[in-house]
Amino acid sequence: PLIRLEDYRPSDWLIDTVDLDIALDERETRVRSLLGLRPNPGGQAGAPLVLDGDELTLANVKLDGVALGAGAYSVTPQGLIIHAPPQRGFTLTVETVVNPSANTKLMGLYRSSNAYCTQCEADGFRRITYFLDRPDVMSVYTVRLEARKAEAPVLLSNGNRVATGDVIGSDRHFAVWHDPHPKPAYLFALVGGALDHVREDYVTAEGNKVELAVYVEPGKAGRAGWALDSLVRCMRWDERVFGRNYDLDVFNVVAVSDFNMGAMENKGLNIFNDKYVLADPQTATDGDYASIEAIIAHEYFHNWTGNRITCRDWFQLCLKEGLTVFRDQEFSSDERSRPVKRIADVRTLRATQFSEDAGPLAHPVRPRAYKEINNFYTPTVYEKGAEVIRMLKVLIGADAFKRGMDLYFERCDGTAATIEEFLACFAESSGQDLSHFARWYEQAGTPTITASGRYDAAAQTYTLDLAQSTPPTPGQPEKLPVVLPVALGLVGKGGDLPLHTGSNAYAGNGVIVLDRPSLSVTFSDVAEPPIPSLLRGFSAPARLELDLGDADLLKLFSTDSDSFNRWQALQSVATRALVETGSGASNRVWLMGKARELAAALDLFLREQAAADPAFAAQVLRLPAPADIAREIGRDVDPERIHAAHRSLSAEIGNALAARLATLREALAESGPYAPDASAAGQRALRNEALGLIAIGDPDIGARLAQLQFAGADNLTDRLAALAAMTLIPGAAREELIARFAERYASEPLVLDKWLMAQALIAEPGTLDRVKELMRHPAFSLGNPNRVRALIGGFAANLTQFNRADGAGYSFVADIVIALDRTNPQVASRLLGSFRAWRMLEPGRRALAQSALAMVSNMPNLSRDVADIAERALA
Ligand code: ARG
Ligand code: ZN
Repeated sequence: PLIRLEDYRPSDWLIDTVDLDIALDERETRVRSLLGLRPNPGGQAGAPLVLDGDELTLANVKLDGVALGAGAYSVTPQGLIIHAPPQRGFTLTVETVVNPSANTKLMGLYRSSNAYCTQCEADGFRRITYFLDRPDVMSVYTVRLEARKAEAPVLLSNGNRVATGDVIGSDRHFAVWHDPHPKPAYLFALVGGALDHVREDYVTAEGNKVELAVYVEPGKAGRAGWALDSLVRCMRWDERVFGRNYDLDVFNVVAVSDFNMGAMENKGLNIFNDKYVLADPQTATDGDYASIEAIIAHEYFHNWTGNRITCRDWFQLCLKEGLTVFRDQEFSSDERSRPVKRIADVRTLRATQFSEDAGPLAHPVRPRAYKEINNFYTPTVYEKGAEVIRMLKVLIGADAFKRGMDLYFERCDGTAATIEEFLACFAESSGQDLSHFARWYEQAGTPTITASGRYDAAAQTYTLDLAQSTPPTPGQPEKLPVVLPVALGLVGKGGDLPLHTGSNAYAGNGVIVLDRPSLSVTFSDVAEPPIPSLLRGFSAPARLELDLGDADLLKLFSTDSDSFNRWQALQSVATRALVETGSGASNRVWLMGKARELAAALDLFLREQAAADPAFAAQVLRLPAPADIAREIGRDVDPERIHAAHRSLSAEIGNALAARLATLREALAESGPYAPDASAAGQRALRNEALGLIAIGDPDIGARLAQLQFAGADNLTDRLAALAAMTLIPGAAREELIARFAERYASEPLVLDKWLMAQALIAEPGTLDRVKELMRHPAFSLGNPNRVRALIGGFAANLTQFNRADGAGYSFVADIVIALDRTNPQVASRLLGSFRAWRMLEPGRRALAQSALAMVSNMPNLSRDVADIAERALA
């Protein structure tokens, strides 16, 4: 059924307290739940009590302690209905039995390695017991866990531990946890197992003592330190920057190896995909260290933005996710380099969200309707949701933003809130009318800003004409203008010129607010013809079409005071060259001319500035990806032609810069043992970016350097970069390095994931067979989401091979989606999302992709998850 935002109704019943008694067992876990219910004054009086349930076996049900007669309730596949509950407070005791070992969907209570764990967001709690499984029903939980001592010496749940003990006369023990903060069921969690941990005492700014711990599989405690360190740093940061203190006596993080997503913010008991917890120099890359820091922070930050203030309904998902992504991005920016973090985030935004927005799965940051909410944990809700918050801050200014956040924390604490309530806080703190701004939550699609400028030497004025338009998206054929903060500078010979204008579109602080289809702003006292630097810091999630020639862009690249736009300027030149060639409008000879222009600019940059900020330089050296070019071309895309253009451009730049890159690599040579900090990581990033370019330019030299680096490296980052460079160079040496890598890391599944993915991404016709072969490798398993995402997800992200002209890539992925759907619909539907860009392909591939999608769509008994994606992708 389609669930609509406008159909929201408060619950007829409330559950004030939940007492759970859970006896863990591999096959027959018994759950006794005592619910303290009462009619909701805001609900409908006399309504039946309809509790959600999914794949539960009901043992018995009692009302106020008295067994209910058979006619008093019904059990359906969707839940338990009490037909005529008393119209007053009462208790309901429900006993159910679940089989955690049979739970391959990894929603609800399941087994991972040898531990018990849970995942309840969005609607997994109903797979543990019958409940009002909706976020606006908030309850105080007391949880008694019991298990065989030998099997699960560690028993964790939300809140504070209030009792532990042995079950007399048995080999079992128990722990009781109490969480004083009312919470929705999706934040419930438990963990049981034999786990190791690292711990640290923490005192909040307000002076409360907190025991922090990170739990991992036995033997892995040596890899938990970075996560714990990140946790301490993000807790301090949230105290300092948002004034938020932690509110329980314990905070636990648990890493499990079978997990559908990245991590989950369960109150006081965050559960993580172990990929985002475990790190040491031999098994994690610099990128992993950075993601662990970011995701530890993200989940911790949810304690305020998500848990204490939760969502009224799932349409408000961006209320917690967009805001929390914004918070984790800010944390990482403060811990590392702000411009480099911004560049990385914008790359991700464009690669994931812009491509979602450009295809059949496009939806607003706040969707209006859904069939399966798990399909809406998307880049649009998360990343675009964060961009909306970032724009809000630019529009109203940092002070009003801070006061708005404080008001939100104060006013909405303890409630299940809406976007409207959130925005009201900022309207109040800023005195601005934000009703037009709110359109960002309702309207899907990526706006294009078209800009052109005119200089009038006689009048000493510069006029900027700006216009916006948003292409149609599914269900939204007509688009209205949105509020676009355009941060800008006018760059003259000596740097930024002062901005003088009487235009009321100018908000001051270098920001024009483009809130209508088009407008012009005239700046006065402009003493020289400037180059406009627009959308500085990527001030709005939009495409920019700017009528600047490559020469002006290259000037911005070398002189703009805004680092983001320096990076962007060079990317724009490269993008334009690749779009021209990749669409067939220009030929290879023309492209070589562009390559030499780019190489000359890069050469100067590398010589003069790379050493000062290697992390930034690494971003500059990395050209836009072929998939970015495909999206820019947007129609009749031929992936092979784009790939060929990309390769030629990279090779030519690599060749032209060979000597410079080699010198640079030596200058950056590792000194001292591995350290994961941003500065050391930045040096490695630049060295390895250089290695990739060298390898494309001159495969012989590249292979030699990669082999040397592999042999001499003392860390995974450098070894993996060597492997990645080698994958660009077909031949026996590559296969040999691939084999050696696998031997070295034979017992490290997370490292082998990277090995699987590196091979799945090889842009050669043999890759499909290689991937099929790798599915038989002992390191691979269709049952583990990380393995599937690495190998199959990697392949589906391989522009040329997934989009093979013969359609074999499509049918391969479609077959796996179908197979996987029987065990894990969420992972299957994610994978099916790889088809999201099919409509922009040239007609041959388009038809083949469509028939693969139709093949999936026509399968009987599809999960709601996969059926929904297939249906929307084809619509
Ligand atoms: N709330 C989690 C986070 O962002 C993610 C949960 C994803 N859930 C899902 N059903 N896809 O931190
Ligand atoms: Zn989140």
